[in-house]
Amino acid sequence: MKISITAPAKINLSLDALYKREDGYHEVEMVMTTIDLADRLFLERLDEDKIVLDVKAHFIPEDRRNLIYQAALLLKNRFNINMGVRITIDKHIPVSAGLAGGSSDAAAALKGLNIIWELGLSIEEIAEISSEIGSDIAFCVYGGTALATGRGEKISALPNMPGCWIVLAKPSISVSTPTIYKELQVDNVEHPNTEKMVESIKNGDLDGIFASTGNVLESVTLEKNPQVKRIKDRMLAFGAEAALMSGSGPTVFALIKQYSRAKRVYNGLRGFCEEVYMVRPWSESENDTIN
Ligand code: C5P
Repeated sequence: MKISITAPAKINLSLDALYKREDGYHEVEMVMTTIDLADRLFLERLDEDKIVLDVKAHFIPEDRRNLIYQAALLLKNRFNINMGVRITIDKHIPVSAGLAGGSSDAAAALKGLNIIWELGLSIEEIAEISSEIGSDIAFCVYGGTALATGRGEKISALPNMPGCWIVLAKPSISVSTPTIYKELQVDNVEHPNTEKMVESIKNGDLDGIFASTGNVLESVTLEKNPQVKRIKDRMLAFGAEAALMSGSGPTVFALIKQYSRAKRVYNGLRGFCEEVYMVRPWSESENDTIN
């Protein structure tokens, strides 16, 4: 059996950290939405008891360091699976970018393995298992738009993000999520209004969404990497209605109502920044295939 499954990227419309917990993680409130920029995974069941990854991109490990590998191993051990799998990844989401590329791949792998190894797990069970390997994976299992709390693994679904344009720009630097969280001073930052963001999404109010964007991790990443701040300023100067860093960065995204204005922001960033994309919120139009 062979299946293909899509793994869309996410952006954080808001990201708040309330306090540092005893277990070292931060208690967070994040509003996330999946976007129309996706990796594609192809899974093929093997009779032999082995996990084979084939990543069609540089700089991505094909061993235990890869979250997909960890996801497959976790299911194998949990459910005593003695079949194997070959997973080929067609990579489009920028790596180490704050767009949950690795987490979304792991979520897609769990969903795909549930089918090819015939585990019969519900989506809720998959999401619960997923948080053993990373805090953002549960959100990726559900996709869409949601409020994530706890360390990011408690998901409450929200209505779809209203239609708009999203311009993403990733500078060619990499940031370490643990380092950014470690340097965050939760008592010394401006916190976003999560409640207002949630309300705005429920009301389909784009202006309210623009006005409630905020990410506490910007206080650390922008300070350490002035080029990230320059991208954000440039997006706003070119007419973006809102611009925000996603996750711990370094990708910055702009939210824009009109196509012509989005194109202007996109053109204003190309040449200034190596990786620039213009996308829409995720639509379910790209179906997964099983054969
Ligand atoms: O869960 P995940 O492995 O994706 O988290 C990476 C790192 O980010 C954690 O080791 C931790 O340092 C930090 N983190 C945090 N609070 C969270 C999520 C992540 O401090 N809620």
